[in-house]
Amino acid sequence: MTSAAVVPGGAVEASLVGRRVHVKVPATSANLGPGFDTLGLALARYDELDVEATDDAAHVIEVHGVGAGQVPLDESHLVVRAMAHTFAYAGVPMPTIRLEAHNAIPHGRGLGSSGAAIVAGVMAARGLLDGVVSFTPDELLELATELEGHPDNVAPALFGGLTIAWVTPEGPRHKKLIVHRGVSPLVLVPEHEMSTALARSLQPESVPHSDAVFNVSRSALLVAALIQSPELLLQATEDKLHQHYRAQAMPETDRLIRLLRAAGHPAVVSGAGPSILVLASDPSERAEAIRLVEESAETAWQALPLAVDFLGATVTDAAR
Ligand code: HSE
Repeated sequence: MTSAAVVPGGAVEASLVGRRVHVKVPATSANLGPGFDTLGLALARYDELDVEATDDAAHVIEVHGVGAGQVPLDESHLVVRAMAHTFAYAGVPMPTIRLEAHNAIPHGRGLGSSGAAIVAGVMAARGLLDGVVSFTPDELLELATELEGHPDNVAPALFGGLTIAWVTPEGPRHKKLIVHRGVSPLVLVPEHEMSTALARSLQPESVPHSDAVFNVSRSALLVAALIQSPELLLQATEDKLHQHYRAQAMPETDRLIRLLRAAGHPAVVSGAGPSILVLASDPSERAEAIRLVEESAETAWQALPLAVDFLGATVTDAAR
């Protein structure tokens, strides 16, 4: 972090009043099969927010689209908490804000909605503090990861594309890669939600060494398949570390993934579920996967053919 603040304490906060930023954050799919807590993909479906620093007595929060009428509209709102976290790190008192959110990322479905809200808050704070404090990419990732708990959703939400994220003693780090143009993601979203905390509680403390070796080989192969050799995606998305432990909590997801994979489609649980990500090779494969799910699903599933987002989160100056 570099600080360009030359004004005494309190004056910085006052100087922010009237600043307004627009933030756009992509959905993400984490794990991608074998890359548990490590690999993530940014997808072209977005939450968009306008945030203005005010001198009102309290925050004013409006939510449209996904989450409207369900998420809190006070300082416990996840975007506001992430902003407060970022302002605290910068050592600048956070002003009250007017926040208008237009959300399109489904909640509780394994598409990174909480990571997106956290990244939105970090980026909104970064935008409001532009010219006062600047943040490195590692700092943005660390701030977001501190709130999310693991970096595999927040890294692609921040930076776009395919990301490899890992944790070092100095904090989380990432490498962004550009996905092969022959990869056509399809997300299948059920009506019911799944709690990440519940999914994580089903994980064992330790796994057989042979399973760890299995996943090391598949996740290394998956990086090559996604950037260079999509024809290897079916083998590269095999996993023994998390999906079968969690299957009991999402039986239809498990059944449909088995069906899709048996038909040759590289299908995996998206994040902690219950959505399914199919890393199809072309639009006709997507259509075939959608047809299979429509024919055999017992509940309603929404099909979202989504492009890979290559940009990640953006913050633009709306007005001053
Ligand atoms: N890697 C995480 C998990 C993603 O599967 O639990 C969900 O936040």
